[in-house]
Amino acid sequence: SIELELLLKNTGKLELLEQVENISNLVDIHYMRQKEPLGLGHAILCTKKFIGNEPFAVLLPDDIIDSEVPALQQMIAKYEEVHSSILGVNEVPSEDVNKYGIVDYSAAENNLYSVKRLVEKPAVEDAPSNQAIVGRYILTPGIFEELEKVQPDAKGEIQLTDAIAMLQKTEQVEAYRMKGQTFDCGSKIGYLKAVLHYGLAHPTLGAEFKAMIQALDV
Ligand code: G1P
Repeated sequence: SIELELLLKNTGKLELLEQVENISNLVDIHYMRQKEPLGLGHAILCTKKFIGNEPFAVLLPDDIIDSEVPALQQMIAKYEEVHSSILGVNEVPSEDVNKYGIVDYSAAENNLYSVKRLVEKPAVEDAPSNQAIVGRYILTPGIFEELEKVQPDAKGEIQLTDAIAMLQKTEQVEAYRMKGQTFDCGSKIGYLKAVLHYGLAHPTLGAEFKAMIQALDV
């Protein structure tokens, strides 16, 4: 954020400025604007021209995964083995299947599942498994053609899951069960769990945070 960086510079907050610059120097960041809220699939379709004919990763920032090897790095390693689209999945309790895209799979080996079918937010009784898509995907560029064909759902949104289900008819699609602990910050309680987890583990604030919680009279 150039505005933030300038503000920090002008107000002499050089230590903070350095932290911010260290992040922005890691990668080149380009922004695409989704002009209307027409769903995740539509947002990805907005990037078509920019991405071109390359495989790419999608990260939904409200899903946070704490793991020794970063979740996306695990998925890229799998992609190097199988060269097909890969959906990051994790097991969820039955009562939560209606919040996620759910994977029906035919075979599983080394945490890799061959996707047979996908269902977006099924009712508990219709869910084919408990393997839920969490917000990490590696997709082949073939997805763009499918996203252009997908019919909007009842809310007028273009669902990525529907496009992947179509892609899966012509290309192999795998699901990879990522190692690590997932926090769904799209729900308020998931967000609070993440704050608790990362607060306790924080190198400088963790001890004080823990003492504060232990002192609570609840
Ligand atoms: C989206 C996807 C869903 C996926 C979820 C992961 O849903 O449509 O398939 O399981 O992200 O967080 P949303 O959370 O946008 O409702």
